[in-house]
Amino acid sequence: MLVNYFTSFRFVPSCLLVAISHMVAGQTPLPIPDTLSGPVIDLSVVEGTREFLPGEPISTYGYNGDLLGPTLILNQGQEVTLNVTNTLPDLTTTHWHGLHVSPENDGGPHSLIFPNTTWSPSFTVLDRASTFWYHPHGHGLTDYQVSMGASGMIIVRDPLEAALDLPRTYGVDDIPLILQTKAIVDGQVQLHTGLDSVVLANGVRNAWKELPARIVRLRCLNGASERTFLLGFSNDMTFHVIGTDGGLLEAPVALDRLRLMPGERAELLIDLNSLEGQEFQLMSYASELPNNIVGAAQVGNGMATLDGYDDNALNGADFSLVSFTVSAPLATGTTSLPLALVPTNSYDVADVDVTRPFTFQPQAMDPMGMIEGPFLINGDLMDMDVINETVTLGSTEIWEFTNNTMVGHPIHIHDIQFNVLDRNGLPPEPWESGWKDVVFVPSMGSARVITRFDDFADPDMPYMYHCHLLMHEDEGMMGQFLVVDPNAIAETDALDDLQIWPNPSQGGTVQIGMAPMSGPAVIEVHDCSGRRVHVQTVGASTGPATLDLVGLAPGAYRIVLLPADHRLRHAATTLIVQH
Ligand code: C2O
Ligand code: CU
Ligand code: CU
Repeated sequence: MLVNYFTSFRFVPSCLLVAISHMVAGQTPLPIPDTLSGPVIDLSVVEGTREFLPGEPISTYGYNGDLLGPTLILNQGQEVTLNVTNTLPDLTTTHWHGLHVSPENDGGPHSLIFPNTTWSPSFTVLDRASTFWYHPHGHGLTDYQVSMGASGMIIVRDPLEAALDLPRTYGVDDIPLILQTKAIVDGQVQLHTGLDSVVLANGVRNAWKELPARIVRLRCLNGASERTFLLGFSNDMTFHVIGTDGGLLEAPVALDRLRLMPGERAELLIDLNSLEGQEFQLMSYASELPNNIVGAAQVGNGMATLDGYDDNALNGADFSLVSFTVSAPLATGTTSLPLALVPTNSYDVADVDVTRPFTFQPQAMDPMGMIEGPFLINGDLMDMDVINETVTLGSTEIWEFTNNTMVGHPIHIHDIQFNVLDRNGLPPEPWESGWKDVVFVPSMGSARVITRFDDFADPDMPYMYHCHLLMHEDEGMMGQFLVVDPNAIAETDALDDLQIWPNPSQGGTVQIGMAPMSGPAVIEVHDCSGRRVHVQTVGASTGPATLDLVGLAPGAYRIVLLPADHRLRHAATTLIVQH
């Protein structure tokens, strides 16, 4: 470390080198969200208040608290049930952004949670170790509810990640950072893009955190509604990207700047071994953002601009997101950068079955429409009753995005992780070579991604793809796709012969008879609110299986048979329990 620059707006005391453990006046300790883990996780969306500026309480939303929510820690391979209770006076949903789950468990706009009810998705965690997040996703409601504060981080752990020498002491050398800007005007959170002047890290302004003089991991999530950050450090240090949306990279990638768009995550390693006593900031160097990205100096190339855009001091300016002070090293902790991480096994264009084009264009082709929207995808706005695309289970596809608008869009696909093939015809940068679920599609440009749709065929329930600028999404820059299994139809008939006796049951054991199956299956029992109350596996057999239902309360239950061979459709029937 040769020079220590302080480029933020903040006063830096000259006694810095002795006063290392003290915050600068006006700073707020970075809150570290609590964690929740285990097989059952309870979340409540609640109303609250928060003083972003002293003496000015603002109404907010949060999960299990006034603002944001706990960090969910999930282990690959575990079963988890999430009970999400809606205490808001409005409809909501909770989407597990980036997780590979069935459409029923995904929390998209069709999984509405009515006020004072609980939604209880239940699934196996299939994802690679990475940083994901959760947020409301009701159609037309996302921007408001996320802006009010409802979102949280998800950390997935897996054995490959656990075997690496990486910092993973949560809140100490593995720091969750939810980076956002908010528009607060007249004592209220506003949706007006141009007015987002409050910069927040984990929900507080002027956040400050002490870090050990070791290798430190920053899990950065852009949870803002519209604004892109160009991350870098005020002391000009190089940092290493080790992971993106859906997993670790093959090796750390050294960078000075990282573009992080709404919805995107990146895990960074910073080497603080020789920086004890120093202070620096995580900055957004928006002055260096190319134009036509929300947050840059200009959108619209001078032809038009968004209302309030030019007056917003953050646009095109460099600003601090979090201040850090480096304290004494931990006794344990990571001291050196790993050389290699995990194999990514990216998808191969040689396997592609389908190339699917998506073109974005403004609804109104005037200069304002070109930057303001609403924006159409393939000529359409989102319609809850229209399935826009149908994908065959197991197929490998290229999704090709062409952006005929004057603003860049971060495009997100549910269900899967993808690899970025190219942008404007050029290969992506090395940090973008891993697993992604959001891709930057530049204005008047294009991007192509490759993915495969394994698991979770459902003939009725769609997944979403959309722009993650939440105003664009809410205004209809979103579409729905089904994943279908063409082989399932014939099998369905056979498997639909699911018989249960006795039915009604007195609550003891019941017998389940089913059509011959070539492989094992899982039998699940769901109660009337969709909660899974019993699960057991049955082998490949033709005989009836015995299900032990002792302890089930009287009521109606749905018995679902899920063959391990996911090309087979599930079978279901209703069981009545009466005592
Ligand atoms: Cu983060 Cu469909 O959303
Ligand atoms: Cu998502
Ligand atoms: Cu957009």
